Amino acid sequence: MMEKQIVSYLPKLADFWRLEVEQLEEYYRELQGSSQFYEDLNQKVADVPQFSGTTFSRPMQLRVYRCMLYLFTRSHKPELFMETGVQHGFSSAVILLAMGKNQSGKLISVDIPPDDPRMTGQGTLGLPPGKGPGWIIPDRVRQRHELHLAPAEERVPRLLFKLAKLGGLDAFLHDSDHCYPHMMFEMALAWKYLPPRGMLLVDNIEQNTAFDEFSRNVDGDCITISSFDGPDRTWRHGLVRKPPANQG
Ligand SMILES: C[S@@+](CC[C@H](N)C(=O)[O-])C[C@H]1O[C@@H](n2cnc3c(N)ncnc32)[C@H](O)[C@@H]1O
Repeated sequence: MMEKQIVSYLPKLADFWRLEVEQLEEYYRELQGSSQFYEDLNQKVADVPQFSGTTFSRPMQLRVYRCMLYLFTRSHKPELFMETGVQHGFSSAVILLAMGKNQSGKLISVDIPPDDPRMTGQGTLGLPPGKGPGWIIPDRVRQRHELHLAPAEERVPRLLFKLAKLGGLDAFLHDSDHCYPHMMFEMALAWKYLPPRGMLLVDNIEQNTAFDEFSRNVDGDCITISSFDGPDRTWRHGLVRKPPANQG
């Protein structure tokens, strides 16, 4: 059975991505049936007290936003996908799982290690002792991953410049520092490098007005979706697509 929250978004996503809803349902069922992936995650968390009592067995434990990342990667088959913000590595893991199924694509992730003085100073929840960023990513799906441990504001401009010479990226996900200036910085930079029809995905847009202002001011189609864990735990996620080359 498909879970209610994500299922309610499938028609909206299908419409935005100009796909048949049945196609997304098929990819969602595929994610539901990825038992090896859940087993791999369970092995990773088995000896980690922070995850004690957690057993992964279904997509919604990964939240709506990460299910959406899986559906996006399966349906759009990005060759180059960049994300900022890795932490444990759940978003990276689902994107890499989808890329494995696509048998193509590379994910480039940029994250500040949790022991960086900037992060500890901001009170960011650390990783489990002895674990580094992306520790939860199953080894089985790591093959298409390139992880950079550096501040996004330093590393992302250089990477995007380099990638542009190699043909450019297809999708960019912001999930690092959600303060207004940093979100604006990443979104504007990614937008400059994304090709026509390229996709900008932004997590935690509820934190401030950056995404709403940005998406209103660029020439691109936009939708937002939400995740709910309870009345006091709601997140919003935004997607903006660049127009085709012959528009704008
Ligand atoms: C919300 S977590 C990422 C969660 C992950 N995308 C997922 O869905 O599983 C945010 C991460 O961004 C990192 N971060 C914060 N500011 C950053 C910056 N300026 N550059 C790179 N990483 C940053 C934090 O250390 C943390 O690991």
